[in-house]
Parts: sequence; C-alpha cells; structure tokens
Amino acid sequence: KKDIRILAYESSCDETSTAVVKNGREVESLIVATQIKSHQRFGGVVPEVASRHHIEVISQITKEALDEAKVGWKDIDAIAVTYGPGLVGALLIGVSAAKAASMATGIPLIGVDHIMGHIMAAQLKDEIEYPALALQVSGGHTEIVLLKDPIHFEIIGDIRDDAAGEAYDKIGRVMGVKYPAGKTVDNWAHKGKDTFHFPRAMMEDNDYDFSFSGLKSAFINTCHHADQIHKKLNKYDLAASFQASVIDVLAHKTIRAIKQYRPKTFIMGGGVAANHGLRERMSKEIARLPKSIQPKVILPDIKLCGDNAAMIGAAAYNLYNAGKFSDLTLNADPSLEL
Ligand code: KG4
Ligand code: ZN
Repeated sequence: KKDIRILAYESSCDETSTAVVKNGREVESLIVATQIKSHQRFGGVVPEVASRHHIEVISQITKEALDEAKVGWKDIDAIAVTYGPGLVGALLIGVSAAKAASMATGIPLIGVDHIMGHIMAAQLKDEIEYPALALQVSGGHTEIVLLKDPIHFEIIGDIRDDAAGEAYDKIGRVMGVKYPAGKTVDNWAHKGKDTFHFPRAMMEDNDYDFSFSGLKSAFINTCHHADQIHKKLNKYDLAASFQASVIDVLAHKTIRAIKQYRPKTFIMGGGVAANHGLRERMSKEIARLPKSIQPKVILPDIKLCGDNAAMIGAAAYNLYNAGKFSDLTLNADPSLEL
C-alpha cells in the first residue's frame, strides 16, 4: 500500500503552523510560528494582529515544512487546512494559502475542523480503537466527544460559559500571570494546596455539561476581598484550589461518561490537555475502573496539545480515506461545529 503524505496548515488563532504527516500517524515535519509575544501586552489575542502575523510567515513556513520533511510538492497527496472554528481573519490566511497551493499544484484539498484536529493529536501517539471517547479541553472549548469512527463525532457534553482554558487565562490575569496563563497556573498549583475550596459547578447534574464561570467569579471575589482588607493570599494555594476545582469536575463527568458509553479508547486533546494535574488524575481514575470497562488511554505529547498543524494532518488522513475532499469554494467558518 502506498504511503499517504499530507501537507497541513493551521492558523485559527495565534500560532501559524505547517506540517507534513505520513499515513496520519507519523510527523515528518512540524513548524509552529508562535505570536504569543505580540499579544501578551494586550492580555489576549488581538484578531487583526494575528492575521497580519499569519500572512507574514505562511509562505516561508510552507517551504520549511517541505524542506524539513525532505519532500517536494510531487510527494504530497493532499493539502489540509483548518477552516474553523476560530478567528475568521486568521482562518482565512491558512485557507487562502492552502487553496492557492492546491490550485497551483492540482493536489486535492481537505478542510479540517480544528476540534477534530485537537482530538486526532492522539492518533500521532498511538492507534485509536473505536468507539472512542475524548475530553477536548482548550482555550475556546470544553467538551466530551464520542467518536463512532475516525470521522463521525458526537458531542455529548459541552461548556455552558467560559471554556477551561479561558478560565485559566482569566484567573491567571488576576494573579498577574502573562497570557496564556494555563501553564504557569498549572506549575503553581503543584506547589500549593486546595485551601480555598472553590465551588464545583454542576458536578452532580445528570448530564455531561460544564460551567466554569461560577468558579472564576468565586476566585476573583476572593482576591478582591483580600485586596480590600489588605490581606496577602498565597498564590500557590490559590492556583492549587482553582485547579482542584477544574479537575474534580472534568474527571467526575468524564469518568461517568466512560461508564455509560464504554469506549475502547479514551483520548484527551486541546491546550488544557497539557495540564499535568489533569493528565495524572485521568490516568489514575481510569486505572481504578474495573478491567472489563477500562479503555486504553492516549494522552497526546505535550507539544501536540496546543495548536499545531500536525494534528490537522492526522485528522485529514482520516478524511482522505473516507473520500471527504473539499473544493476551491472552501471558506473559513469561524463558528464551525463538529
Ligand atoms: O488548544 P489551544 O492551544 O487553543 C485553543 O484552541 O483554544 O489552548 C490554549 C489554552 C490556553 O487557554 C492556555 O492557557 C491553556 O490552553 N493551557 C493550559 C496549559 N497549557 C496551556 N491550561 C492548563 N494547564 C496547562 N498546562
Ligand atoms: Zn486549539
């Protein structure tokens, strides 16, 4: 059987990325041009700034991805690109670059959902057996997704307000941590204890939905109150308490979903899947399940949890096998749903 090699683009938010992925499993090259420094002084991503950065680097990193993989256009079987969800102007840069490349070379085009990409980062680590269940936690999304096969996904639990990563970034900001705050808050959490006992919203509800805005408000109120009475709070304990709350809710609902749906594989994906506490907790809780319902666990490499084009190449391979190609009418869809 012939190897299938995909050149992939990702530009939905604040990283411009290209990659060459072989057979949906092997990363032959991966370039990630991050713009985080340009957005930090604004405390978050500025859409117009993001688009400008994407356009500055995208041609250059297309060449770099091919060079690093030691391949040319003739070796590429498909060109994949994230077309949503994300910032419309940012998405358009990747979509336009991929369409132009496809038109110039005649190589088929595949539009990929960013969330499907995050979930398929797991495929770059190990083989996914279906049905699978994914906890997809990023800056914009927090959901439990059921994978019937490599391309048919169903969201069984969703976020009602602030996504997990967004909550990390917002409470991080209150503690003076630079955007994106998740990684630093995670590190601090390991040095502290859950002394504040923040709320665990919707824990006992009979669904798989999440809400983190109450937790965020409780955190902010605690800090403001301390400010007013000039009390200094321990930042490590604040981080540990926030993180314990997030992880308790995510783990509790995910384990309940695993018990109900009995997937063969459990996957984590998205920026927050890099969280050490969450990775540890999920692995531990799954190991404690009865052997008969214990799914195989795939936690993607930390560097593939955040936005990158390799995960888009992995997801595109599955679409390629299913014959799901796009044509040159492909457009950015900022609110694309799985
Ligand atoms: O998936 P991603 O790169 O972008 C989106 O598609 O949203 O996720 C970025 C989010 C940010 O909110 C960032 O703070 C969070 O992931 N994040 C973390 C960690 N590393 C990144 N959150 C918690 N713990 C981490 N170690
Ligand atoms: Zn993402």
